[in-house]
Amino acid sequence: MKEKVENIIKEVTEKLDKATSLKEINDLKVLYLGKKGPISELSMYLKDLPNEEKKEFGKVLNDLKTELSIKFAKKIAYYTDLELQNKLQNEQIDVTLPEMKIQTGAPNILEKLVEEVEEVFMSMGYDVVDGPEIEEDKYNFELLNIPKGHPARDAQDTFYLEGEEILLRSQTSPVQIRTMLEGGGNTPIRMICPGKTYRRDADDATHSHQFMQIEGLLVDKNISLSDLKGTFDVIAKKLFGSDCETRFRPSYYQFTEPSVETDISCFACKGKGCSICKNTGWITVSGAGMVHPNVLRNCGYDPSVWSGFAFGFGAERLAMLKYGINDCRTFYQMDLREISTFDRKDVE
Ligand code: DAH
Repeated sequence: MKEKVENIIKEVTEKLDKATSLKEINDLKVLYLGKKGPISELSMYLKDLPNEEKKEFGKVLNDLKTELSIKFAKKIAYYTDLELQNKLQNEQIDVTLPEMKIQTGAPNILEKLVEEVEEVFMSMGYDVVDGPEIEEDKYNFELLNIPKGHPARDAQDTFYLEGEEILLRSQTSPVQIRTMLEGGGNTPIRMICPGKTYRRDADDATHSHQFMQIEGLLVDKNISLSDLKGTFDVIAKKLFGSDCETRFRPSYYQFTEPSVETDISCFACKGKGCSICKNTGWITVSGAGMVHPNVLRNCGYDPSVWSGFAFGFGAERLAMLKYGINDCRTFYQMDLREISTFDRKDVE
């Protein structure tokens, strides 16, 4: 028996000496101390031994177990530490390496401009509303006082989808109609609607078949052109600086009477004349006017009680002016070389 035990110790010691990984050591541990190992096997004889031998043999087996367990524990501790040291060594971070340039995204400049405009109008109590891009002729034209066959339709070369009734909206003005119809003829309205619009234009530096407008509408009692002028002045100064001046020029739209073009003083030359303002000192940024009585009536508002003003900004044009961009295709072509140039503090 003694010989057997000594053999086991010798065997384990030799094998452990050769083992060089945690896995090997753990496998050996299972092999010798596990249920099917030699110690379990020896324990089976215990029950057949006479009592006094049982006691002695039991002690020998226990000592053997303890001795082997200590051997394994020491070796496991050694290799656990070694593996950790290796890991730390191999995964060391070299802080002297030059940083890696991570390319980050930048906010879409057009969205940024729209958000800025929205904030100014919201601070004046306006709601920001939405409308469908696939629109019915009656909202896009008819109820805006532009009947079928009217020459004013020619100015907006429209994408028709189904016959003559369903189209891609050519302006955001139909959202005025939808909002007034919801207002039911007896509710004051203050809304702006930024959104995509579509026209059959050939794309170039200043035209795009898809572009963005920011529509605005205010309907209440006793509203006059001077309210429009005051409102326009606020937004112009917010966007282009407190020294920005504004003026109206007479114009014509079917859905406003009177109609105006709204100009801001040129922020680049301060009115002296330059290439941005084509030497006029002024830049046109929107169409606007007093809501036409027919339009109010079409939407259930009595023009003898209610009046209002409306306006439509071209968002690309505003952004081009504000950020000095001279080709509106920049907003849509997703050319990272161009777009990344907007990733600057002054744009944020
Ligand atoms: N819808 C016009 C356009 O696309 C812009 C416009 C002009 C909108 C005058 C208005 C307005 O609301 O009152 O050219």
